This record gives sequence, C-alpha cells and structure tokens, in this order.
Amino acid sequence: MSVISNSGNNSPSLRLRTTTVGNTKVKEISNEIQLCPSVMSEEVKKMLPPTSETVMTKPFPIRGERTINEVTAPHVVAMVGLPARGKTYISKKLSRYLNWIGINTRVFNLGEYRRHATSAYKSHEFFRPDNEEAMAIRNKCAVKALEDACDWLRRGDGDVAVFDATNSTRDRRELLYNIVVKKMGFRLFFVESICDDPQIIEQNIMEVKVSSPDYLNMNTEVALKDFLQRIEHYQEKYQLLEEDRESHLSFMKIFNTGKKVVVYNSEGHVQSRIVYYLMNIHITPRTIYLTRHGESEHNLKGLIGGDASLSERGRQYAKCLENYISQQNIEGLRVWTSWLRRSIQTVADIKAPQERWKALNEIDAGTCEEMTYEEIKAKFPEEFKARDQNKFAYRYPRGESYEDLVARLEPVIMELERQGNVLVVSHQAVLRCLLAYFLDKPAEELPYLHVPLHTVIKLTPVAYGCRVEHIKLPVDAVNTHRPKPKIPGEVYSEETQNGAA
Ligand code: SIN
Repeated sequence: MSVISNSGNNSPSLRLRTTTVGNTKVKEISNEIQLCPSVMSEEVKKMLPPTSETVMTKPFPIRGERTINEVTAPHVVAMVGLPARGKTYISKKLSRYLNWIGINTRVFNLGEYRRHATSAYKSHEFFRPDNEEAMAIRNKCAVKALEDACDWLRRGDGDVAVFDATNSTRDRRELLYNIVVKKMGFRLFFVESICDDPQIIEQNIMEVKVSSPDYLNMNTEVALKDFLQRIEHYQEKYQLLEEDRESHLSFMKIFNTGKKVVVYNSEGHVQSRIVYYLMNIHITPRTIYLTRHGESEHNLKGLIGGDASLSERGRQYAKCLENYISQQNIEGLRVWTSWLRRSIQTVADIKAPQERWKALNEIDAGTCEEMTYEEIKAKFPEEFKARDQNKFAYRYPRGESYEDLVARLEPVIMELERQGNVLVVSHQAVLRCLLAYFLDKPAEELPYLHVPLHTVIKLTPVAYGCRVEHIKLPVDAVNTHRPKPKIPGEVYSEETQNGAA
C-alpha cells in the first residue's frame, strides 16, 4: 500500500483504485473524486485521513486502564565490560527504573550462577584464559543464565532481562545473538561500560568487590590484589564492541560513568528509554531529602486534595524544617516544591535556590477533590470500594491514579538523577511514588508506603541501593496514613486518621 498524503483539505475526497504490483492486485486511494462516508466499505474508511469525526479522542481515562509502557517484544539487555566497571550497578539501577515505569525487568547475574556451580572461590587462577576446565564451567554457566533469562521472557513473566556479565569477547556476544535474536526472536541490546579512571575503578573494587561472596574469608588487601589480577586475565582477551566488526548488533557505550556516550543501531521505544536513562545517571555522592508540606488546614478536617494553607502546627514545622536544613549545611542544596500553597509555605524561610514543579502537585482526586473519605463513600460507594481493590491502578473519576502519577513524575526522577543535593517538598501520594523508585518497591506496595507529616526522609545512595533515614521533627501533626483495609470500602481501621490519599 502506498502512503496516502493528506492534500491539506480534511474532507474525504478520495478514490479507490486497483493497481497490480507483481502478481498481486493492490487497492490504492487517490484524492480525485468525492465519496460519501456512508457508502464506503470499512476497509476504505480505515484509509481515510483523519477528520474531526474520525479522530477518536479519549475524553477521560477509564478506571484501571493500563496506560503506559506496553512492551511489544521481549528484550535482553546484555552488559559488556571488564570487572569493576559498574556493570552490576548499572544493571540493578536500570532494572529498578524500568520496573518503576511499568516494564517488568529482572537481572540475571552470571557471577551468581558461577558461584552456584562451583565450590568456594579460591583465586584469580580460575579466570585465566588458559584454564580450560574453568573456561568450560564458565561457558556452561553463561548458557544456563541466558536460557533462564529467555525462559522467563518466553513464559511472559517479564519484559526485559538484564544479563549482568562481562560478555567481553566477540565470540560470547555472537553466542548471545544466536540464542536471543536468531533462536528466540527477541531483541538484544548491549550496554558496554568502559572506564580508564583508576580512582573510579579502585573505589568500585573497595566498595563492592572485596566484600563480594568470593572474598568472604579473605582480608581486604589480599582480596584487592586477587581482584586486580582477575581483571588482568579479562584484559588479555577483551574485545571492545566495534561498529564495523559487529555491525549487526545494537549497543550503547558509556565512557567513564557517562562523560561520553555512543549509541549504535538502537531500535525502538524500550531501547531509547534505556539510553536516555543511562545518559542521565551519575555516581557523584549526594543526598536527597524528601518531606511533605507542613500540616494543612485540610489535613485537620480530613479533606483530600485542594490547595489549603498551613495550619498553625504546619507553620511551626516550616520553621523547624528551616532550622534542620540550615544545621545540615548542605553543599549546593536546591529546593523543589509543587505549585500548591502548602508546599511553598513550608519552604518560605529556607535559604537556597528554589524551583516549583507542577509535576510535584498532589494526585488529582478529580470529582472527589476536597471531600472526606466518609463523603466519598456516601456519594460514590462503588468508586470507594474499587480504589481499595487496586489502589495503584484505580483512577479517580476525572482525576488520576498512582500509575498516572508515576508517568507524570518520570521527568522529576530524570532530573533528580542529574542533580546533586536536593530537598523535595511535596505530597503524600507523590512522595510514595518517588520513594518506591529509590527503594525499589513494587506497584502493590507503593500506594501504602508510610510518608508521615513533619518527617524528613533522607536518602543516601550506597553501593547498589539507597540508605534511608526518617528524621521526625518535634512538631505534632495528624496521621494521614490509611492502611489497606481488610474489607474493601471500609472507611476506618485502627490507624486511619485524617486526609489520607
Ligand atoms: C563471574 O564469574 O564472576 C563473572 C563471569 C563473567 O561475567 O565473565
């Protein structure tokens, strides 16, 4: 079928004609004569350019409808690189991000398969390229890990399998290509991490390698020496990914933790999301502080949503927060708030550059805005019950779901990844979404995470995750946490208090 171009006139002035391409008769449309839509076949109607009658818009999303990130083809993301180049860090972080945006992802780590298949690790000798016996075991483990990853994808259990291994030779990458692409028909994307900064490499070894299960009973110095020799064995045979020698592969290369990025042959939505995310992350130490606004007048009345001002205790919290933040003496701190007055009032006295993000506004409760739970239950009992049945997917009528919120917050996460120290002052549902990202919490747990008022949540990236500390500042506030009720649709349980979202 040839491409039909719209003449600029939206009226359906089209003609169907049949031409022959090879032995096949092909129907074409040209825009010479007018046909009335009511006499056209369905086939012809589908070929029409859109008019205001044919374009179907969705006035409001339907409750529980899956809206984001459908993955059409299963993917294997295969890491490439020498040991201690941050492959496991990238694998875990990427997996956390993809899971958070709704792409079901799991890491398959080859080191774990090797440890499972062998007795206790003795020394770097195992990784010598001329150690044939060990090489046979290593190859067997690689095939087993890859088969497990492909089985997991084939069963429909996941969307993306991250194969965390060195994959440092062309032969190994060809093996992956044959299994993943040729045999299984899946997509394969390589991510190569190249690092020649000795400081970064040593920091990585000291942070995660010398404490790996391989070196359980070894002192740090011996472990460090052994690991450096292990790297040398890989170095002997390492073949960088090269466009001209492996032109059939899709890959990205990350140099020195993101100083330079090269992308080759990237295909489709999932790969471009991966590239964009990995271009934004960094490993410079920093801290993220999350807090809700101070207690608001609506919190006192148990109303959800709205744009109320702080209560008297909320104003005290704002002062306390300013005090806490100035005592911390945080280098280069930036303050982000929503556009709602309770969060802006909370940071009024903090001396640091401030930015307002509409994306940080509280979940939109639509027709239920500024109502209490009792009112919602009385007016919309079915809605109230439906939310308890699947709180993550439930979308308030003419409002949002937690799932929508995650999509809205993606640019915030991306920018947070690029930044240094940041204080984010926002709202209960929003902070649940951000916390779920940093703490790798699944969608079912996300809407029930505890984010109490008048508490600073301090997140410090460590090794492969985040350390989390809750700092309760000394000003009382109502409890707005509504745990999952035993019976969907129950308003109160023991813990339920005011204004939960
Ligand atoms: C390992 O056995 O620890 C990793 C093997 C590899 O990826 O080469």
